Amino acid sequence: MNPLAQKIKEAFIKRYKSEPGIYFSPGRINLIGEHIDYNDGYVMPCAINKGMYFAVSPNGKKDVSIFSRDYQEECKVSLTSVAPDEGWKNYVLSVINEFQKDGKVLEGFNCLFGANVPSGAGLSSSAALEGGLAFALNDIFSLGYNPKQLALLCQRAEHGFPQVNCGIMDQFANMLGKEGSVILLDCKDHVHSYLPLNPGDYRIVLINTKVHHALAASAYNTRRTECETGLKIIRENTPFKSFRDVHNSKLLQKLEDKMGKYVWKRCTYVVDEIQRTLLAAKFLKKGKLKDFGTLMFKSHEGLSELFKVSCAEMDFLVKVAEGYPGVIGARMMGGGFGGCTINIVHKDNKEAFVATSLDKYKKEFQSVAESYDVVTADGTHLVTEDESGNQK
Ligand code: GLA
Repeated sequence: MNPLAQKIKEAFIKRYKSEPGIYFSPGRINLIGEHIDYNDGYVMPCAINKGMYFAVSPNGKKDVSIFSRDYQEECKVSLTSVAPDEGWKNYVLSVINEFQKDGKVLEGFNCLFGANVPSGAGLSSSAALEGGLAFALNDIFSLGYNPKQLALLCQRAEHGFPQVNCGIMDQFANMLGKEGSVILLDCKDHVHSYLPLNPGDYRIVLINTKVHHALAASAYNTRRTECETGLKIIRENTPFKSFRDVHNSKLLQKLEDKMGKYVWKRCTYVVDEIQRTLLAAKFLKKGKLKDFGTLMFKSHEGLSELFKVSCAEMDFLVKVAEGYPGVIGARMMGGGFGGCTINIVHKDNKEAFVATSLDKYKKEFQSVAESYDVVTADGTHLVTEDESGNQK
């Protein structure tokens, strides 16, 4: 068993004096298709070998104890009085609340969890938190949800107590990730396919700016509202019903006055990114990784200049990556306003690239960035005793 899984199991037994089931719930990366999951677009995420381990077992009572090993904090609640709280507790309580809203009668349980995915880094530790608990409860109480239904429940949970109006990408990747593949997810009707990821001599490297903007959640919701406003204007003035029908953002040019500058820029980005993601999927299928990488740079440009969810630190790192030998693609990743950049780098250049990036970053911002090598992993699952797993 993975060393962290083992530690979580031991800590659980020590605290609750019973034998738990152990679950791994992964973080995610997204190769391309950013901020378009809530715009009926396509996204290309995958689950990664960094995430959270959960130890869970029923306790035969009507209350719940959930302990965070990383925060050394307990969330204790009666199942008859589940209500919003703060920080990580808000997410787990919201998951319980969603099961109850679905009419499921939960029994009491104990849970202890710990992470090797950094939080606030754009790797969706929140989806890992929701997904790990939801999967475990579905398993131990035989609630009958399939992985897609669990992903949707977790999305509702994020909209619930935490009030983050997220799309479906993170929860979907968390539940349905598959080692060796990326998911091509059509967010309109949640239909997905797996595209094998054969990076050959290339590696996926994340660089964490360690920047967290307190306003990120509200700015995220604002972007969502701006896109809704834009879509309404598109529907009123053109035959198009959805951003994906527009095909070419030039067709939006005549709507700039009606939309206003900001909404128009957001919509232009969304239309471009949907088309880029479809093209990227074609390149990936044909093994044209360099062409794929070029689209990642373009995606960053749009996120930074039109969608305005980047920040000086991420822009700086992408600039360093651009033109660096062996780097074929780089962009900011996730919700934005901080977090990680994702870089596709030749294995021979990887070390030097990371060292240069961290060094330049330190000189520019007097702060220390971090890098992670990540590989694809399976979605949330029960960890078996003999599973060494690819979760490092
Ligand atoms: C966050 C949200 C996702 C998605 C990304 C941006 O991670 O949770 O639903 O919108 O931002 O692509």
